[in-house]
Amino acid sequence: MSRFGAAVRPDFPAVANDFVFLDAPGGTQMPAVVAERIAQTGISPISNRSRGSLPGRNADDTVLEFRAAAADLLGADPAGIVHGRSATQLTFDFSRTIAKTWEAGDNIVLSQADHDCNVAPWLIAAERAGAEVRWAQLDTATSELPAAQYEELVDDRTRLVAVTAASNLVGTQPDIAAISAIAHARNALTYIDGVHYTAHAPVDVRAMGADFFVASPYKFFGPHFGMLAAAPALLETLHPDKLRPSPRNRARALRARHPPIRAARWRDRSDQLHRRAERGRRNTPRADRLRNGCNG
Ligand SMILES: Cc1ncc(COP(=O)(O)O)c(C=O)c1O
Repeated sequence: MSRFGAAVRPDFPAVANDFVFLDAPGGTQMPAVVAERIAQTGISPISNRSRGSLPGRNADDTVLEFRAAAADLLGADPAGIVHGRSATQLTFDFSRTIAKTWEAGDNIVLSQADHDCNVAPWLIAAERAGAEVRWAQLDTATSELPAAQYEELVDDRTRLVAVTAASNLVGTQPDIAAISAIAHARNALTYIDGVHYTAHAPVDVRAMGADFFVASPYKFFGPHFGMLAAAPALLETLHPDKLRPSPRNRARALRARHPPIRAARWRDRSDQLHRRAERGRRNTPRADRLRNGCNG
């Protein structure tokens, strides 16, 4: 075993028994520090996101810390980070949402280098909208996906170019910045599969020109979920399916529900009650509810 392997092995209880995992696409094992942080969050008082109570703030802070960490990793804006169950689930959701404005006569460009995660959702969305599907071809001699072919494939009716930043099959890394430049010159959006790439190379979604960039932390020692980065202004233009009471602009809706003065008073009061409940000096029904993670 390499010196590096020996040094990090104790951080991974899953390989304590000398297991060797060789199926990288199947995901990585989780270091103890990650699992412990998840457990810590799960056993802290936690409830619906708000700034008005400790459990609400714990939930809100967890989401905001996740977005900040994901944005830091991907070179993105924290306000444009979206959490999901997996890259596949996020791509299905985004394909349904993005395709709402597609029409017959529009087209999209997919690639032969892509995992089905960045193919099947777009095929289904294109079929529903009556949009044409065009294919970027792998060069069979070199396994490269030449960017120049996109000059022919993308035109003024192209709504989306979906392409991988790195193939999990052959390791090909298409020139995403060049492909994005061609797409943007015709006002098409780019949806980049960064699942394989993010585990192997530093990511800068802005330098890549990626409108949407999706990755899966379980490929690099994180828990099993997916994350997507996009510009917040672009996300604002989308209309995802949602429940009727869900606010379209979450920040504005939160401010409306918790005017600053009332929210600040409630926060002080809830902190006080929570501290008392934790010290066990006084138990009130309200403090009990707070301790148990209820929001009011
Ligand atoms: C290149 C690539 N894209 C997408 C996926 C799908 O990711 P997820 O499991 O998060 O849906 C995988 C999974 O192996 C992959 O290797």
